[in-house]
Amino acid sequence: MNSYPRATKYLDLDSIYSRCSGPGALRTAEFVADKLDLRPDTRLLDIGVFKGEQTCFLAKEYGSMVVAVDPWLDDFYPDCDHRPFVDHLRRNADRWGVADRVLGLQLGVPDLKFADVSFDAAYSTTAFEMLRGLGGVDHYRACLAEVRRVLRPGGLFGLAEPMHLGGEPPPELAPFLSDGIITFGDCLTSIGQVEDDFLAAGFEIVESGYAPDGWEWWLEFAAHDVECKANPERIPRMLEVDGGRWIGFGYVIARRAA
Ligand SMILES: C[S@@+](CC[C@H](N)C(=O)[O-])C[C@H]1O[C@@H](n2cnc3c(N)ncnc32)[C@H](O)[C@@H]1O
Repeated sequence: MNSYPRATKYLDLDSIYSRCSGPGALRTAEFVADKLDLRPDTRLLDIGVFKGEQTCFLAKEYGSMVVAVDPWLDDFYPDCDHRPFVDHLRRNADRWGVADRVLGLQLGVPDLKFADVSFDAAYSTTAFEMLRGLGGVDHYRACLAEVRRVLRPGGLFGLAEPMHLGGEPPPELAPFLSDGIITFGDCLTSIGQVEDDFLAAGFEIVESGYAPDGWEWWLEFAAHDVECKANPERIPRMLEVDGGRWIGFGYVIARRAA
C-alpha cells in the first residue's frame, strides 16, 4: 500500500469528499501526480474538476500553475446552488490559499478552445468514464485526442477512473449497472480498452494498470461521499454486492510523442 505523505496531511475525509467526487480523493490525486513529474513551473491542465479539491491540492502540494476546466453546473448534486463547478473551485482556491496558482474555466473536452501545445502536463480523475458513458468509445477517443492537441510534445497525461477488472459482471450487479442517467454499465470498461483508446488517440503509454489501492479508495468513497451517504442503497450497496470482484479503478500515464 502507498503511504501518501502529501494526502494524509489532510485528515477530515467528510470535509474533503464534500468538495471532491471520486474514489480516493486526495490519495488518487497524489498517486497520479507523483507520476507526472510536476514542478512549480509546470503548466498543468486539470480536466473535469467538480469543486476543485484535487486541483487545489495539486497547486498547493506540487506548486504547479493549474488551469482547471469543467463545463457543468452543480445541478445534479445534493447541495446544488445552480452554479458552475468552476465557481466552487474559485472559492475553494481561496480556502486553500492557492488563488494565485489556479484558474478555473467553464470549458470541457472535446472543445477546449486553447491553442495547440498550451500545456506541459494534463491530469484527469473520475471524469473521462462519464464521457464514455455519455458518448461511447468514439467520443472518448475524441476527448483524449483533444487533450493530446493541447499538450506539448513529450508532455504527460495522467488519467485515473473507475474501470472494471475484466470479463462479464457478476449477474447480481445488473440492477446497479443500469441505474441512473449515466449508467455504470456504460461508463465502465477494462484497462485494456482504455489503453487501446489512448493509442488510437495518438498517445504512447508510459505506465498503466489497476491502482493497487483502488478497492480501498472505493470503500472510502462509499463511506464519505455526500451522495453515497444520502443514498446508501446505490453505490455503497453496489460495492457491497460486488465485493471487489468486478469493480476496480484504473490509471494510464501517457506521453504525447510528437
Ligand atoms: C465525478 S466529477 C470528478 C471531479 C474531480 N476530478 C474529483 O475527483 O473530485 C466529474 C466532473 O467532470 C465534469 N465533466 C463533465 N463533462 C465534462 C467534459 N466534457 N469535459 C470536462 N469535464 C467534464 C463534471 O462537471 C464533473 O465535475
